[in-house]
Amino acid sequence: MKLTVRNKEMYIIDEGEGPALVFLHGSPFKGSMWINQLDYFKLSYRVIAPDFRGMGQSQDSKHPFSFEELAEDILALLDNLGIVQFVCCGLSMGGYVAFSLWRKAPERILAFILTNTRPDADTVEGQTKRLHTAGNLLEHGSNQLVEQMLPNLVAADTKKDNQKLVQDIQNMILSMDPAGLAHISLAMAFRESSIQDLSSISVPVLIVAGTEDPITPPDVMQRMADKIPDSQYVQIDKSAHLTPLEQPGWFNKQVKSFLKQMFQ
Ligand code: MLT
Repeated sequence: MKLTVRNKEMYIIDEGEGPALVFLHGSPFKGSMWINQLDYFKLSYRVIAPDFRGMGQSQDSKHPFSFEELAEDILALLDNLGIVQFVCCGLSMGGYVAFSLWRKAPERILAFILTNTRPDADTVEGQTKRLHTAGNLLEHGSNQLVEQMLPNLVAADTKKDNQKLVQDIQNMILSMDPAGLAHISLAMAFRESSIQDLSSISVPVLIVAGTEDPITPPDVMQRMADKIPDSQYVQIDKSAHLTPLEQPGWFNKQVKSFLKQMFQ
């Protein structure tokens, strides 16, 4: 459904009843990338998966924005839905938003599930690449990102055995608005580091890595877990950067037992 959030149309999936689980997608994706989690967890929880501004079916802002603004969008959305506290599950860029949420409203977070993400800011080399990507997106469209990203998104076994998933991921990227993606690239380039915030995270955190993830590799995620006081680290085989899509059964099992410690 579509809601007006901070004067812009935002598309969200909102299903089920119970404690709120908010799923924050990565880039260049949208809320429906969590379909395997939404279908599973909606039986016991209220699951919410927004499309960030400029992505999927949510309206773009027509100007560059920061991760702080993306976090404000999520908090305003949850106010609108009457949700005070929630479990926040973020993949990659969704994890960057999760860190901004912690800085803004720690009292609203019950727990984090952080998957295929990292706490550091971009290097100058990384920033330069993002600016280049933003220019290419505006000039040549979203297919730029298919060539650039697809080889790193999924594991070797997924490429070999799950062509349908690879095709679905490709279609999702191609369906994105290039201007929205350019804005996200700029936001990622200039996001602040969250490393200094890790030790202040005082809620339970589940960290899930994909053993073949070249974008947010297991050693980066393990180091992040080491800095968060109440964290549990797991890594899942035969998955790269899109662990919840590549290994949904394993991913859901880990999340289910993590949530069980809190809610049952
Ligand atoms: C994502 O999946 O959100 C991106 O790979 C994050 C990034 O490019 O830093």
